[in-house]
Amino acid sequence: MIQDELSKALANVKTPNDVEQIRIRYLGRKGIITNLAKETDFGKLSPEEKKDFGQKLNRLKNFATDRIQEALNRLTAQNTATATVQTHRLIDLTVPGSAGSLGALHPISMVQMELEEIFEGMGFTVLDSPEAETEFNNFESINIPSDHPARDMQDTFWLKNDMVLRTHTSSNQVRALKRFGAPFRGIFPGRCFRYESIDPSHENTFYQCEGLMVDRGISVANLIGVMKTLLSEMFKREVKVRLRPGFFPFVEPGFELDLNCLFCGGSGCPTCGDGWIELIPCGLTHPKVLEFGGIDPREFSGFAFGLGLTRLAMMKYGIRDIRYFNSGDVRFYEQFAPII
Ligand code: DAH
Repeated sequence: MIQDELSKALANVKTPNDVEQIRIRYLGRKGIITNLAKETDFGKLSPEEKKDFGQKLNRLKNFATDRIQEALNRLTAQNTATATVQTHRLIDLTVPGSAGSLGALHPISMVQMELEEIFEGMGFTVLDSPEAETEFNNFESINIPSDHPARDMQDTFWLKNDMVLRTHTSSNQVRALKRFGAPFRGIFPGRCFRYESIDPSHENTFYQCEGLMVDRGISVANLIGVMKTLLSEMFKREVKVRLRPGFFPFVEPGFELDLNCLFCGGSGCPTCGDGWIELIPCGLTHPKVLEFGGIDPREFSGFAFGLGLTRLAMMKYGIRDIRYFNSGDVRFYEQFAPII
């Protein structure tokens, strides 16, 4: 009876203190087993009975002592096991790690890198170029003399040393021709600046990618061919384009190249309006520009284009506000990072 009760009680212990309470209840000074001896009137027992009682009592005490020790051992072992698991957990290699931030490329950088690859595939050189320019390179050399009204189209940041923050990447056309001569194929991606008041579609700092190809017998057909290849590869599908007349002093004839809207297929939608998106100003290089570059316009002809990189990134990623690009907000940049 007592053994059963004791075993049951010990089966439920959770802490060494629980075990101690049980020890006190059975073996303490006023414990159940201790009391058995106290309550028995030994005087009335025969020597045989005394011996028998004594032995039973001892067995009971031993049983209780052993079970209590066992219970204590069990608890200690459990604690050790838990402790071991906890220690191991600290170095558990199966637990997913906390990922560090990898950073992300700016959406304009991604578009620029893609463009460079496409043009390199067509034999174009990619040239780096300065952001602070001479007045000659930014204006004069591409047929915009100081009294030309086209200067008014570009509100310019002038520097104290009479240089300008380039208003477009066209500033590199003559520099490249002087340096490399003809035939020439190159693109000049880079940052440009204009004195603009900023709103969702205007920025004072934006990116363009200029292109120039000069060779014998270059015509509008070459221009259209290169532009269509570029856009098809960029948007990963066959595209339709159209040319409208456009005026730029450094090309003759000059065009606005429109892209047949990729969203509606040309039927008209809120993004494009009438089915066409004005995308790339371009044209055949003006003879004066070739001359400034030291190239004989009777022997060579060429085409040039000025792609708005910022504009292209907005189209490609569906970004509706240009101000995000220079915001420095990582939450914006991260959205366009390729998933690794
Ligand atoms: N430079 C012009 C601009 O920023 C864009 C441009 C137009 C570049 C026609 C060209 C071109 O090369 O042929 O507005």
